[in-house]
Amino acid sequence: MKALTLKVFYENSDPNKSSSKQAKYLAIADALRKAIRERQIAPTEALPSARKLAQQLSVNRHTIMAALAELVAQGWVEVRERSGYRVVENLPIQGSRTINKVAKTPQSFDWKFRVKQTFAVTPKVKASEYPYNFSGGQPDIRKFPFDEFKSHFSQTCQRPKIDDLSYGDSRGEAELIEEIATYLRRVRSITDKELMICNGSQEALYMISQLLLQPGDKVAVEQLGYPPAWAAFERTGATLIAVKQDERGINPEHLAQVFAKGKVKLLYLTPLHQYPTTVSLDISRRMQIYQLAVQYGVAIVEDDYDHEFHYDSQPIAPMAADDPAGLVIYISTFSKLMFGGARIGYVVANNALIEQVAAYKMVMNHKCNVLVQQAVAKWMQQGGFEAHLRRMTRLYQKRRDFMVQQLRSFQDKGLPIHFEVPAGGMAIWLDTGKSIIGLKEKLLPQQVYLQTEVEFSRFNELPDDLPRTKYRFIRLGFAAMNEAEVTQGLDIVMNTLYGLVSE
Ligand SMILES: Cc1ncc(COP(=O)(O)O)c(C=O)c1O
Repeated sequence: MKALTLKVFYENSDPNKSSSKQAKYLAIADALRKAIRERQIAPTEALPSARKLAQQLSVNRHTIMAALAELVAQGWVEVRERSGYRVVENLPIQGSRTINKVAKTPQSFDWKFRVKQTFAVTPKVKASEYPYNFSGGQPDIRKFPFDEFKSHFSQTCQRPKIDDLSYGDSRGEAELIEEIATYLRRVRSITDKELMICNGSQEALYMISQLLLQPGDKVAVEQLGYPPAWAAFERTGATLIAVKQDERGINPEHLAQVFAKGKVKLLYLTPLHQYPTTVSLDISRRMQIYQLAVQYGVAIVEDDYDHEFHYDSQPIAPMAADDPAGLVIYISTFSKLMFGGARIGYVVANNALIEQVAAYKMVMNHKCNVLVQQAVAKWMQQGGFEAHLRRMTRLYQKRRDFMVQQLRSFQDKGLPIHFEVPAGGMAIWLDTGKSIIGLKEKLLPQQVYLQTEVEFSRFNELPDDLPRTKYRFIRLGFAAMNEAEVTQGLDIVMNTLYGLVSE
């Protein structure tokens, strides 16, 4: 091996970046490995003595010995009694060289995993990057009391509950379960059920689907709905059946026909604020639907994702609050009360099901992040959570009213838009009076993000008697933006839809 080559390799590895002795011996090992890889020194050839190498590289002999020991440990070099260090006969890279020789073409060497089911690749558009983000369920994260929350987090870290920090009960932190269960009893009248914490309600939807559905089963869903829930159901091989809905929500007569055809295992509902239309399902329809579910033995998944944000009256109690048969699986989330990245959701159901969900979660990921759960529990215990909810409900109500006022002023200018003022939720479902196909794509370059009716509907091609939707609606989230942002954003939307309307 040429002394010069080794020196060049060594100097290129920049051993002086760090002055520590450790970095030096690793850099020397690296330089020697490069020399071996590039056949500057052949397999079985003896290496220069440690003394010579030390001279060549102007380092201490001990540093060379450490580098050689490293190469021995990695299998590049071996020590022979009396003859010193030699390069091994079969280099550690030999295996991959052999494969290279066997492979006929570079392509035939490209490993292809046989994925059983392919997933849609995550969309590149990130709503939160748009200054005018009308995406329907977004809270205003800028208003989250981070300083206050930080103090709960640091308390949690100052006095950690060591036992809970390990693996263990996959149902979640006992103190958070207790806090949420008490809250649900008091505010949503849900009693006599078990609760477990999940990584957002999406995880709950996924686990429930995996436990209750199999290929050939049917899941009844609202005609317009929440695609992530549909995706979880369909992953099991189950088929979605769209049920008609009108201005009062899902239609019980059509639901009865769907149930009567058989094989429906689950009904997925968003009764309080129908997603995406925001309509509240009234009590009489709820009763009819519940009776049908009992009659046909169908479980109901009730997704109550933004319960607190109801403005004109108290929200109707969830279906899970009056469930004598025990067939309602209630899911909800902190994604709207805090932010989606908190990944705290929960599922409430009878004990037999929760036991199974907990067992499933154990296999999937053991449990949710303990520190976050403990901090949220403290936030709830000390009243910060409910104070935040009260503040945000007031704010979102004002923002709803402001958006309504803005939209009415567009109506006054003669635009053919129609909407019902939503009693709650975080969005307005707006009939634009014209096709919205292509609207989203026109708005994105203008810094506006919104979702249009097509994104909530997949059923227009079904051989069913569902009315053909005309795709005229858009969903305008009002919670995440302040008045100036809403004004500017709506101007862009309306100008894009109808030409210049603000002059
Ligand atoms: C209908 C519906 N369900 C559930 C969720 C919440 O999902 P997660 O708790 O997984 O964030 C959302 C949030 O956008 C939603 O709109």
